[in-house]
Order: sequence, then C-alpha cells, then structure tokens
Amino acid sequence: MSKSTEPEWQEKNSLQLDVNYMMEEFLGTEGIKADQLKDSLFSRAAQSLRDKRPQLEWQELPYTQNEVVKEILDYATWAKDKFTNFVVLGIGGSALGPIAVHQAVNHYYYNELPKEKRCGFPRFYVIDNVDPERFVALLDIIDPAETLFNVVTKSGSTSETMAQFMIVRSILQKRLGDGYNQHIVATTDTEKGNLIKIAKQENYKLFYIPGGVGGRFSQLCPVGLLPAAMTGIDIEELLAGAAHMDRWTREEDILKNPAYLRAALHYLALQKGKNISVMMPYADSLKYMADWYAQLWAESLGKRCDLQGKEVFVGQTPVKALGVTDQHSQVQLYTEGPLDKVINFLAVGKFRQQVDIPLVFKEIPAVSFLGGHSLNELMEAERQATEYALFRAGRLNNTIYFPEVNPFTIGQLIYLLEVETAFMGELLNINTFDQPGVEEGKNATYALLGRPGYEAKRAELESGSPKLGQYILSLG
Ligand code: PA5
Repeated sequence: MSKSTEPEWQEKNSLQLDVNYMMEEFLGTEGIKADQLKDSLFSRAAQSLRDKRPQLEWQELPYTQNEVVKEILDYATWAKDKFTNFVVLGIGGSALGPIAVHQAVNHYYYNELPKEKRCGFPRFYVIDNVDPERFVALLDIIDPAETLFNVVTKSGSTSETMAQFMIVRSILQKRLGDGYNQHIVATTDTEKGNLIKIAKQENYKLFYIPGGVGGRFSQLCPVGLLPAAMTGIDIEELLAGAAHMDRWTREEDILKNPAYLRAALHYLALQKGKNISVMMPYADSLKYMADWYAQLWAESLGKRCDLQGKEVFVGQTPVKALGVTDQHSQVQLYTEGPLDKVINFLAVGKFRQQVDIPLVFKEIPAVSFLGGHSLNELMEAERQATEYALFRAGRLNNTIYFPEVNPFTIGQLIYLLEVETAFMGELLNINTFDQPGVEEGKNATYALLGRPGYEAKRAELESGSPKLGQYILSLG
C-alpha cells in the first residue's frame, strides 16, 4: 500500500485553514461577523454546486484518471531514457499548473542537477509565451534531436500554442526527417479543434483532455499529469491529495468546509470593498502556485454579466506576492495602504531542508541574536510577524498551512482552490467556466493575422477611431 493511502499518513499531511484574522472578534468592524456566515445564500449556493456536480467533470478527476495514469507512467518510463529535455508548449491553463507543480515538488535547481540526481528524468522547460527572444534562447540550450515536445491545447486552436508547435515541428522535420513525430506528444480535446486532426494524421502520441474539463481546471488530467510524471513526480499521490480534499470539501456545513468557508469570507469581504485577493506563499517552492491561483481566480470570476445576462462587472483582482521577499516591497502597502485587500498566506510547517545560522559576531548583539536560529525559524517568525502586523492594522488575512510540501499536499491545494473558485462563482451568480473577455482578444488576433472567417472582425478593427498624435510622446 502506497503511503499516501494510509489514513494516518493522510491525516498528518492534511492542510489546515486558519481564518481567525478574517473575523470581527479580531478585526472589529473591518472583520466578518460569524452570523453573516449563516446567511441562507451560502447553503443555497452549496446546494446549487452539488446539483451541478455531474456536469463538472474536473471534480471527478481524482477518480477517473486511473487508466490514463497507467498510460502516462508507461510512456514516461519509455521517454525518460530517450530524451534529455522535455518542453511543454502551451499557455494559460495549459502551462501554469505544470510550472507550479514542478516548482513546488522538484529540486529548486532541477535542470542544473546531473541526470542521475534527477533519477534519469529529462530537463524540464515550459514555453508559455511567444516572445521570439525567449524562443531562440531555448533553442540555444537544447538540442531538438534530444527533446520531447508536449504541445498542450484544449481548444486545439490557440494561436500562441499552434505557432510554437508549427515552428518546433518544422525544426524537427528538418533535423530528423521521418522520425520527427516521435518527438511530439499532443494533449488536447478528444474531438474538437485542429490539433487532434493533425496529431492523428501525423501519428503523434496523444493524451486527451476530458470534455468537461476547461483549461484552468485541467491540472489533474494529462495536461498536468504528463509533465509532472516526466520529471518523476508521484502523480498518484497528487491525485490522492485531491481526493482527500474532495472528501473534505463535500462537507455541507460551511464552517467545516474549507473551500466554502474561504469563498464565503472572500465574498463577504468583497461586499465590504475588498477588491483584491493577495496570494502570498512563505516558501519559494510555492511561488508559482500564486500564479496558478491568479489565473484561476481572475479568469473564472472576472465577468461582465451574471447568469441572467445582467451587467454586473464583478470579480476580485488576484495579486501574487512572495514571503519574505515582498515584505521589503509590497507589505508596506498592504499594512498602511487602502483597506481593499484580503491577504492569503501559504505557510509551511516542515521545510525539506534545515539551514542553521552560525553563532558569530558575538560582540554585535544586534546581529548575533540571529545565530543559533535557522533560516526555517526566521522564515516562520517573519510570516507570523507579518500576519500579526496586518491584523493589528485591521487587515483581513488568513493562512493555509502545509505540514510539508509534497504531491499529496499540492493535490489538496489545487482541489481546494478549484472548489473555492466554483463556489465563489455560485455566490456571484456568474459562469465560472467561460472566458468571453479572452475570446474577444483571441478573435481580434486572428483577424489581424488574416485567419479566414475573421474578415468582418478585421474590418471592424480597421474602422475603429485612429489614435491621436498629440497623445503619443517620443524624443526628437
Ligand atoms: O482557462 C482557460 O480556459 C484558458 O486560460 C486556457 O487554458 C488558455 O486560453 C489556453 O487555451 P487552450 O488550452 O485551448 O490552448
């Protein structure tokens, strides 16, 4: 039996949520009253989310991926010996999860480690932009002939990803001739889009994104599982963590359900003008979980219309921060600036390393007091101090505790924040799973680059008001 299925181990590795400093008892009128959490709005939203569960396929991913996991693990075992590098080509939900999980679980300088210290797994890169300098820079350090490229797009038509793919495919064809297709693995929708057609035609290895799983909710399907497995991350443990959190977030009592409670508190805070939600991990390993959260929260909840089509212009702006680094950058603003934020800390109980600070400079007490402590203690003391300072300044904050960072706890966090986002969407009465504002930009790009079928959009763009010269400054 794997350790992640043992109840005792699971209990020891359960996340914890502390919302004390969100509440009136601590923050006075700035805080949330316990009675507000009894509003029937919350039980109605919980019921509505439960009713929708059959359509929300992402909620079932902890249970539906067994066959796929086996296939991924077999493929990763084959591929790890063949390739020196593994490169993800994707953007948005197809890239942020793989980056965040890699950073959380693997060695901080994974790519610089010798291969045996990577247990034989390839180096890992994610190209989540179309910046030409970065693209060429990657080609400067990898040999495409030793590289496996994972092109990931749910829609199979995202311009950025398809452009990356087209460039890579040409390079591989020129270098390798017929065998080039062994260097491409596609992750896409089972039917929709253009990538699936190309992949079948050109005989690429294929993994599928289930129909009811959208980009930002896709980390627990092959979008995230294949990249994780390609660097040796225990993907079964990741899914076990998500299943563990699923059991917890099925609780009907909002005070016992961490996802509902966090969403309800954010919703009530938003009613009080807290338009910003800061995600601030106190661990470099969790830095990119804040990026992943930012997309989930922003793209899911920032909506012009509610479910009845009425203009509501809702959402809460996510901000990424990092403890302790941003104590010397943003915390001044959080403590004394506008009262418009909720700060979410991610705290780690046990780091995977311990670094002691030597007992030196005894003649300078203002420095020597650090000696005999550890960086671990310093990190935690600074987090507690910031939490306390924010509470003293009347700023809403809460903490999610990780006993330690591992695939099981990361799986829990992913699932927690996904359910929280879905619940917040219910409270805001919006469609959490679409992104009409992004589609408009995508369509305008297609029009500007001459995609057939977008002629009317191009005409619309060209007939827009020309910019005025007096508002454009340049030297000379
Ligand atoms: O969450 C989403 O749906 C988006 O952020 C997508 O992940 C992003 O636009 C990329 O789309 P696709 O996977 O279709 O290429």
